[in-house]
Amino acid sequence: MPELPAGGLITRNLFLSCDPYMRGRMGTEKNYTGGFPLDQPIPSRVVAQVWQSDNERFQIGDFVWGFLNWERYTGVATPNQLRKIDPELGPLSHAISVLGMPGLTAEVGMQELGMPKPGDTVFVSAASGAVGSIAGQLAKLAGARVIGSAGSDQKVTHLLDKLGFDGAFNYKTANVGEALDEYCPAGIDVYFDNVGGATLDAALARINPFARIPVCGQISGYDGGGSGIKRIGALVASRATMTGFVIYDHMHKFDAFLPRMAQHMSRGDVRYFEDIVDGIEATPQAFIGMMQGDNIGKRLVKIADPE
Ligand SMILES: NC(=O)c1ccc[n+]([C@@H]2O[C@H](COP(=O)([O-])OP(=O)(O)OC[C@H]3O[C@@H](n4cnc5c(N)ncnc54)[C@H](OP(=O)(O)O)[C@@H]3O)[C@@H](O)[C@H]2O)c1
Repeated sequence: MPELPAGGLITRNLFLSCDPYMRGRMGTEKNYTGGFPLDQPIPSRVVAQVWQSDNERFQIGDFVWGFLNWERYTGVATPNQLRKIDPELGPLSHAISVLGMPGLTAEVGMQELGMPKPGDTVFVSAASGAVGSIAGQLAKLAGARVIGSAGSDQKVTHLLDKLGFDGAFNYKTANVGEALDEYCPAGIDVYFDNVGGATLDAALARINPFARIPVCGQISGYDGGGSGIKRIGALVASRATMTGFVIYDHMHKFDAFLPRMAQHMSRGDVRYFEDIVDGIEATPQAFIGMMQGDNIGKRLVKIADPE
């Protein structure tokens, strides 16, 4: 149990997030978030309840989310980075999934960079995951035809039956190029790239004039090897735009995003699934499993019930 810092809090942590970017913090390669500090608990987004408070902004029992640690209790010296959760908006865990960073990432990537229009064909990779599942549904709401790729037949069924995708394929068993020819016969107007690698190359070979490619992630290269893009020349002929983005640059949009996404959820315009593993002891395997694709929706670890 940590000491209560002067002017700070002790939080009792409820849900821990497992995110792909955390893999990049485990090595020595240059990374936009920097390496994990050695001999410290792993920092991640966490949903927590205020357990003790020496800060007038936070009362005991308040629900909060922000960067805390993979641990049961955290001493927070500077709680101004924490945001309060309104439990009226939905399950508490949504604060670090659909109503949190993954939701905002999907919205910024799809709406601002992808800019889907009615009649567009939109392709989303890692489509059943935390970000991809929202990105695809936002493109549907914009009137586009949406195709997703994912790594199992169960995920493909989920995309079609639960999330309303117009087409989906298993990139592990299909030939990605042939599948894209089948599902995107008129070419691709927006490719929301979560994975890089061979999938990105196959998409580049099929982009339409003035296509948009928001580059959200490159998970196929996170264990080493990089992406090895061969088809970058397609950008010239198609006059397409490929734009990387990092959500940290967009957090000032959060307050406007939250009611918008909450409304999508309450109206049923966006459906969201979480894949919650139980118990702090299970956290490392929950993270590794997510990197290997055993999650449908956002991978979280539940470590305590609210009081
Ligand atoms: N730019 C930003 O600010 C930002 C913010 C959040 C996330 N991201 C990125 O967005 C992507 C998705 O993140 P997420 O949080 O939504 O995770 P997620 O999709 O919920 O989970 C990761 C998924 O990646 C897929 N995957 C793993 N290895 C793969 C490979 N070699 N090829 C293709 N797919 C693979 C797996 O699904 P399958 O079964 O389908 O393989 C796995 O379920 C990641 O690249 C992440 O780094 C970027």
